[in-house]
Amino acid sequence: MPLDSYVTLGRSGLRVSPFTLGTMTFGEDLGWGASPEESKNMLAAYLDRGGNSIDTANIYTNGHSEQIIGDYFAGRPEARDRVVLGTKFFWNQYPGDPNGGGPGRKAIVRQLENSLRRLRTDHVDIYWLHNFDPVTPVEETMRALDDLVSDGKIRYVGFSDMPAWATTEAAVVARFRGWTPVVALQVEYSLLERTAEGELFPMAAALGMGVTAWGPLRSGFLSGKYGSDRSGQVDTTRTALVGAPRPEDYRVIDVLNEVAADMGVSAAAVAIAWVQGRAEIASTLIGARRMDQLEVNLTALDLLLPDDQRARLDAASTPSLNFPAANNAYMSRMAQFAGATVDGLPSVLSPLLAAPRR
Ligand SMILES: NC(=O)c1ccc[n+]([C@@H]2O[C@H](COP(=O)([O-])OP(=O)(O)OC[C@H]3O[C@@H](n4cnc5c(N)ncnc54)[C@H](OP(=O)(O)O)[C@@H]3O)[C@@H](O)[C@H]2O)c1
Repeated sequence: MPLDSYVTLGRSGLRVSPFTLGTMTFGEDLGWGASPEESKNMLAAYLDRGGNSIDTANIYTNGHSEQIIGDYFAGRPEARDRVVLGTKFFWNQYPGDPNGGGPGRKAIVRQLENSLRRLRTDHVDIYWLHNFDPVTPVEETMRALDDLVSDGKIRYVGFSDMPAWATTEAAVVARFRGWTPVVALQVEYSLLERTAEGELFPMAAALGMGVTAWGPLRSGFLSGKYGSDRSGQVDTTRTALVGAPRPEDYRVIDVLNEVAADMGVSAAAVAIAWVQGRAEIASTLIGARRMDQLEVNLTALDLLLPDDQRARLDAASTPSLNFPAANNAYMSRMAQFAGATVDGLPSVLSPLLAAPRR
């Protein structure tokens, strides 16, 4: 599957590559990222392969990630027009200023203006609400985003790391007010974090949202560097979002390493191919701190996991989902369609119901 086999994102006409280039690692400001030069080389390598989807955020390396991307595209207007450039708002970059971040109207407008300046562009293609704010009324956020679409400053709206109930409320409000819809979700999803399967994936399918997955390597835990035979000290300064692997994570990591060894490919490629091979995922966000990591991660494009290896990974990583996911899955198999045939699937109760009553 090449990077130019584009898919539509949710219920929209926006086409994106199966892998989106993550740029949280662009810039050395936090002491461990890629230099501007290496970042631009990674951008060029991704675009050369036909990639068209780039993800950043105002908070990444304190705005430097956006700046590096802006500098790269500044002299390449045609290349800029071709890409789907997404950035995010939420994190307050102005200590002491209560309206410096968040999803209120004043804060959104200011954050977007600053992102556009750093990105050296007049619009972003996907503007992502980065995180959940329980205080701001959802109508205010959705109306402010709709106005920015009307102003020509953003094209599409996405939600990241939001509870399913809050996303649903926003989507329904927008639908009945005729405002710009939420067409995409950004969720953490990997062999070590599958709980989005409980609420977020079914919501996305029902409401026409394309799912993009961040953290496919769980910050590197699924890259082959880790295993129960080499579970030494983890440098958690680089894995602040996820800490260190838990003892139970090593059961999954070990199976991943075995599958990669059996197939003669890298564990990173297997982990990414597993994510992208899930029917729910439109585009996987690949992150890399160095060019050699990006090259390895891109090999996942051509990796088709055989059914038996995928089944091993599925079984090792099966999540425990919050109520009522498991209960509802059981009920829909056992009771809802009792005695009926729905979409060609006979109910498992049919034979029981067909049995003569005594
Ligand atoms: N919406 C959100 O809240 C959110 C959150 C996080 C990320 N994101 C987006 O998603 C993108 C990807 O997320 P992520 O950075 O968490 O992805 P990830 O793939 O789980 O982790 C990337 C890290 O793993 C290591 N790595 C990557 N490829 C490797 C390889 N082939 N071999 C060995 N190590 C490798 C690197 O760290 P080391 O070399 O330091 O080990 C790299 O920084 C980000 O760039 C960002 O755009 C979004």
